[in-house]
Amino acid sequence: MIFFSPDINMTDEEFRLLRDFVYQYCGLHFTPESKYLLEKRLNKRLQHHRLKNFKDYYYLLRYSQHKDQELTEVIDALTTNETYFFREDFQLKTFTQEILPEIRARKEKTGDKRLRIWSAGCSSGEEPYTIAMLLLGMPAFHDWQIDIIGTDISQRVLQIARKGVYGASSFRATDSNYQRRYFSEVDGKHRVADNVKSLVTISHLNLFDAPRVTLLGKMDAIFCRNVIIYFDQAAKKRVVESFHDRLRPEGFLLLGHSESLMNITNAFVLRHFTNDMVYQRPALSGLNEDRL
Ligand SMILES: C[S@@+](CC[C@H](N)C(=O)[O-])C[C@H]1O[C@@H](n2cnc3c(N)ncnc32)[C@H](O)[C@@H]1O
Repeated sequence: MIFFSPDINMTDEEFRLLRDFVYQYCGLHFTPESKYLLEKRLNKRLQHHRLKNFKDYYYLLRYSQHKDQELTEVIDALTTNETYFFREDFQLKTFTQEILPEIRARKEKTGDKRLRIWSAGCSSGEEPYTIAMLLLGMPAFHDWQIDIIGTDISQRVLQIARKGVYGASSFRATDSNYQRRYFSEVDGKHRVADNVKSLVTISHLNLFDAPRVTLLGKMDAIFCRNVIIYFDQAAKKRVVESFHDRLRPEGFLLLGHSESLMNITNAFVLRHFTNDMVYQRPALSGLNEDRL
């Protein structure tokens, strides 16, 4: 027999405690109107621990011996991980047809054949693997050292990214040539090829963990698409400023199509390309760029 436990209601005070805790940790922002979302998504955790109210859950999350493990569960429950291969095709065209050739021309002047790209908030890995497939299709980069770093805060989606095995919904925008070329079928699912995987490193990273973000080193381009929409203005500002620090001068920041830096920062310039507009860290004048 299956027993259904009724959902437990969250008081306004419990909402404030949990909302502030989540916001401080990872920037995810729940307005009072979205209280029901927090309540609904965390109800399973209360039931898992057989708790009667959200205050006890809050104390468990803050002070129990297993608080780190529980935080992982909270993040998995609260993040929205929707993604698929070749998402936002017009932007990817801009990336391969205009941005990458520009980066290549600039770097070749100094004999630098290294390319570092960060997919920040990569979810289950479709975005960094898409970037890898695009680069494999560009002969001009075949003798380059390419590092694509995919990071996310949710351990659940990172497990999928590391496995690299995907179902049909990940392919809703994928040209069949790519699917044939870079995937093999395993038990009705699709495993990404080793040459694609070998360009990508998948790591756990909270974008608000400043010391660990710094450890990533400098990037030529950062993709952070459909991630900052879940943050408020102050959190967006913090994250975007850290992207500015991680980018080399003239490096590019690619946001989702509905996201902009208006009212957040003036630190980037907006470049108008044929198919899209993309943010760029300005060039430094009079400084040795190799040091950055
Ligand atoms: C909607 S997915 C976007 C995936 C991919 N960038 C795309 O556009 O298809 C948003 C991802 O951001 C991640 N995320 C949210 N807050 C984060 C944080 N503070 N640090 C790192 N990742 C975060 C979520 O776990 C989620 O996987």
